[in-house]
Amino acid sequence: MPRIALLGCGGFIGSHFLDAFLTDPSWTIEGWDWTPAKIKQHLGHPAFTFHPGDLYTFPGLEDALAKADVVISLAAICNPSQYNVRGVDVIESNFIQPRLIADMCARRGKWLIQFSTSEVYGQTLSHWTGGGEAPASLYELDEETSPLLLGPVSAQRWSYACAKQLLERYVAALHREQGLAYTIIRPFNFLGTRMDFLPGRQGVALPREVEGLPRVLACFTGALLDRSPLTLVDGGHVRRTFLAVEEAVEALRLMLERPGMAKNKIFNLGHPGNEITIRGMAEMMREVAADVTGDESYLELPLVDVPALEFYGEGYADSDRRMPRIDKAANLLGWTPRRGLRGILRVVLEDAFQTHASRPIATVSLQE
Ligand code: UGA
Repeated sequence: MPRIALLGCGGFIGSHFLDAFLTDPSWTIEGWDWTPAKIKQHLGHPAFTFHPGDLYTFPGLEDALAKADVVISLAAICNPSQYNVRGVDVIESNFIQPRLIADMCARRGKWLIQFSTSEVYGQTLSHWTGGGEAPASLYELDEETSPLLLGPVSAQRWSYACAKQLLERYVAALHREQGLAYTIIRPFNFLGTRMDFLPGRQGVALPREVEGLPRVLACFTGALLDRSPLTLVDGGHVRRTFLAVEEAVEALRLMLERPGMAKNKIFNLGHPGNEITIRGMAEMMREVAADVTGDESYLELPLVDVPALEFYGEGYADSDRRMPRIDKAANLLGWTPRRGLRGILRVVLEDAFQTHASRPIATVSLQE
C-alpha cells in the first residue's frame, strides 16, 4: 500500500488532501503539524497517523520519511501579512527548513512533492514600461519560459517569493547532482473551506502583529459575518485567478497515480477562467452572501479603499496580475479545472454562515 508523508497535514491544503485520500483505501498517510484543529475528523482513521508539534524537532524524522513512498512538503508561512513583518521566519520556513527535507529525500531516494507558489513569478505587469497594453507574456505565466520578476530588497514582500524560488532552484539542483526525484507545484490562489482563519472567531487569540491577517477570502468572509465593510487594498484593482482546492487535490491524485508524468517537473495549478479583480471578488461575495442567507442587505455592505501602507505596513508590495498557463498539467496529467468562482464562493460562505452566524441560512443548491 503506497505510503505518503504529509508535512503540514493540518493546514488548508493538507486538510483537503486528507478528506480526499482517506476515503480511498489504497493509501496510508503519516502527517505532521502543529495542531489538529482542522483535521479532527480524521484522527483515529486506521490509515492515518498524526504527529502534533514541530516537525523539525520530531525524533527520527528522517527515518520516518525513509519509510514513505512520497513526501509532500506543505509546511510554510504563506500569508502576505507576515512577509513584510516576519522576514526571518518567512525565509526560515520557506527555504531553510524545507531545504532540510529536500536533503533527507535526496539521501533516502524519496520522491519529493514540494509546494512552491505562483508568487515566484513576481510583480508581472508593473515591469511594463512600454506604454499601451502590456504584452500577455508578462501575465500569462508559463513554467518553462516566464521570467521571475521580484522587486527590490526594501520591498520585504518578495522575501517569501525569493525563498520559494531559491528552494525550487535547490531542489532542481539536487535532482541534477544527486538524483532527487521531485515535483514542484506553484499554486495560483486555491480557495475553499478551512482557508486560513477568521480573526476573532476561531480561537486564535494572538496579538494582530503576531497573528497577522488572513488572505483575502477569510478577510472578506469575516467582514460579511460581522456585517462590517470589506476592505479593498489600493482599491482592489489587482487581479487573481482562483481555483477550488478540491480540484488542486485532484491534480495531486493524478500526479501520484502517474509518477512517470509528474516526476522532475514544475506545474502551475490554477484556473485561468476564474480571473477577477479583488474589487470584483468583493462584489461577488456580497451577492453570494445575500443569496445564501436570503438577506439582500448584504449587497449594501460598503467596500472601503485602504492604502496598502495602512493595511499591511512598510515593505508590502503586490503582484498585479498572474494567470497560469496550465497546458503542462492538462497534457501530462489530463487535468482540467472546471469549477466557477461563484460556485466555489457559495460553498465557502454556506459553510461560514452555517458555522459562525446565528442567522439561519436559506436552503440553497450547491450545483453551480
Ligand atoms: C498569497 C500568497 O502569498 C501566495 O503564497 C499564495 O500562493 C497565494 O496567496 C495563494 O493563495 O495561492 P496573494 O494572492 O497576494 O498571495 O494573497 P491574498 O492575501 O489573498 O491577497 C490577494 C489580494 O487581495 C491582494 O492584492 C491583497 O492586497 C488584496 N486584499 C487582501 C484586499 O484587497 N483586502 C483584504 O482584506 C485582503
